[in-house]
Amino acid sequence: MIKAAITGLSHYLPKYELTNDEIATMVETSDEWITTRTGIKSRHVLRDEPMGSSQLAIPAVKDVLEKTGVKPEEVECLICATSNPDYTYPSTACIIADACDIRNAMCYDILSACTGFLYCLQQAQAFIKSGIYKKIIVCSAENLTSFVNYQDRTTCALFGDGGAAALVEPSEEYGVEIAKIHADGAGHDRLIRYCGGSRCIPTHEAVDEGKQYIFQDGKYVFKNAVTFMTNAVSEVMEEGNLTLNDIDWVCTHQANKRIIDAVREHCGAPEEKVICNIDHVGNTSSASIPIALHEAALKGQLKKGDRLLLAAFGSGFTWGAMYLTWGDCKI
Ligand code: UT7
Repeated sequence: MIKAAITGLSHYLPKYELTNDEIATMVETSDEWITTRTGIKSRHVLRDEPMGSSQLAIPAVKDVLEKTGVKPEEVECLICATSNPDYTYPSTACIIADACDIRNAMCYDILSACTGFLYCLQQAQAFIKSGIYKKIIVCSAENLTSFVNYQDRTTCALFGDGGAAALVEPSEEYGVEIAKIHADGAGHDRLIRYCGGSRCIPTHEAVDEGKQYIFQDGKYVFKNAVTFMTNAVSEVMEEGNLTLNDIDWVCTHQANKRIIDAVREHCGAPEEKVICNIDHVGNTSSASIPIALHEAALKGQLKKGDRLLLAAFGSGFTWGAMYLTWGDCKI
């Protein structure tokens, strides 16, 4: 059976590391509060570098092409997950493709917030299984901090910037085995950036009210993140008849260490099986899973044949879980 396998992976974090101590100079908070409530110690933010989400994915896409030896003209499709596109249009995928000299491929964005990477992989899987495309770039581009209000202590410590890219190709041995991907718009106003789209244009009044910034009902989102991610994990495990012995690594969206722990406990997995980098990356939305995977791969943790359980949750609400086998992946 043909599956979609990740055959190349890379990530990029901007150079500036914003620490909890520096955030404590902007709002009433402390390193202790942020660390114990979220697990985050620092995050990378775009400063003194070209702005825009595309800028974070471009180095990762170029690196993946170089490491895999795939030429830009061989790429048939580029799907970009982003919560903060460079522009409403054109798509950030087109900007990234242009910078990487990828011409004539099908290029488009997916706006599924923090579940974006799983949405993209699911689409890549469909293209590959149907035989429509064989060389697909899936990337995540998140300059989230451009809309973080550094006067709002309930959100400003959470988010960071980052980008990642994967080459996805057909494989008979490795790749996505099971995917359960969902959305329910009933919670759409609990994690939202109100202003900037067609519903609320950025008038002076809207901007004065701070409607361009990320708004989150933290407690509500937290509870739903735990419920929906653990449900999706159960769905995947039931469909595959999986036990903990069938899982080498658990890697979830990095939003809060307490949420990651809740999913880990739900699977009964020990800490050693969990890939977690939230302490120095924070929440980079759709980029968080591929950045964490790439860091783990660079540390030599991911080996050919390893079986991974991924889970994510984000604005929408969107959520999902995926079970995949790690193969020959150039890093
Ligand atoms: O990526 C998409 C999905 N996103 C998530 O999954 C994030 C989900 N939510 C969370 O991670 C957590 O809800 C937060 C980290 C955002 C907040 O943690 P919490 O334990 O739920 O705290 P809370 O919102 O219940 O706030 C408790 C108290 C409040 O004070 P009062 O009202 O009890 O006096 C807050 O004002 O902590 C206060 N607080 C802070 N204090 C110091 C909130 N943020 C801070 C802060 N520093 N940075």
